[in-house]
Amino acid sequence: MTYQKYIYKLPTEDFYKFLVDYGKGVEILSEGEAYIEFALYEPLEGIEPLEVLEVEVILPQKVYKPQRIKNLIIIPSWLRPVVIRHGMAFGTGLHPTTRLCLELLEDFLEEGWSVLDVGTGTGILAIASKKLKAGRVLAIDIDPYAVEECLHNKEENCVDIECIKAEAKDIKESFDLLVANLELKVFKKELPTLIKLFKRVAIFSGIYEKEELREFLDLLKEKPAKIKKLKGWYAVVIKR
Ligand SMILES: C[S@@+](CC[C@H](N)C(=O)[O-])C[C@H]1O[C@@H](n2cnc3c(N)ncnc32)[C@H](O)[C@@H]1O
Repeated sequence: MTYQKYIYKLPTEDFYKFLVDYGKGVEILSEGEAYIEFALYEPLEGIEPLEVLEVEVILPQKVYKPQRIKNLIIIPSWLRPVVIRHGMAFGTGLHPTTRLCLELLEDFLEEGWSVLDVGTGTGILAIASKKLKAGRVLAIDIDPYAVEECLHNKEENCVDIECIKAEAKDIKESFDLLVANLELKVFKKELPTLIKLFKRVAIFSGIYEKEELREFLDLLKEKPAKIKKLKGWYAVVIKR
C-alpha cells in the first residue's frame, strides 16, 4: 500500500504561523535560517507543494518483531504466545509432528469452534487452539504425567481449557475439530473411534514416511482434504 507525502517550503516566520493555525503534526525535513522545508500527508489549500512523493506504508508486522531481553520477551500484540514448561510430557513445539498440527490449526480452525485434542502431552495444541480463539477445548491423554503438565501449562497461559486423563472411547460427544498427534500403532486401534468424535475437521499427525502414510490412508478409507509433510513426517486433514 502507498500513500502521498506533500513537500512544502515556507519562510521561517510564515511556517510557525502556519503551524499554529494548522494544529496538527508536521514532519520537518530541513530547518534553515530563512526557510523551513516540511512534509504533510495531505495537500494544503492554496499552497503549491514543491514535490509529491509516493511513499510505501511499512506495516508494523514487518518491523516490530519479538525481542528477548535476558529472561523477558516482548511480543507484539498480534502474535499468540504459548508458554510451555520443559517437563515430563511430549510437546515443546520442536518436533515436526507438533509443528504440522500447529500450522494446520492455524489454517483450519475457525473462531468459536469446539476442539478435542487427543494425546495432548504438554497441552500445546489445546492451548494453541484456545489462543487461536477456539470455543470449548477438551484435552485428553492416557498418561497422568501429561495431564499434570497440561494443567500446569494451562495455568501458565491463563486459558480456559479442560484437561483430563481419558481415552477416545470415554468421550461421548463430538467436537467441531479434532486434533490427534499420535502414532500409527495407536491410530490402528483408535481411528474408528476418533472418526466419530468430530463434525467438521480432523487433523491426524505422527505418521512417518510414505509406507506409514499408505497404511494410514488404508485405515482411514476417506479422501483427505490435505496432506502436509515436514522432515519425513506427515499430517492428514479430513473435512466434512
Ligand atoms: C506425540 S505425543 C503428542 C503431544 C502433543 N499433542 C504434541 O502435539 O506435541 C502423543 C501423546 O499421546 C498420548 N497417547 C498415546 N496413546 C494415547 C491414546 N490411546 N489415547 C490418548 N492419548 C494417548 C501420549 O501419552 C502422548 O502424551
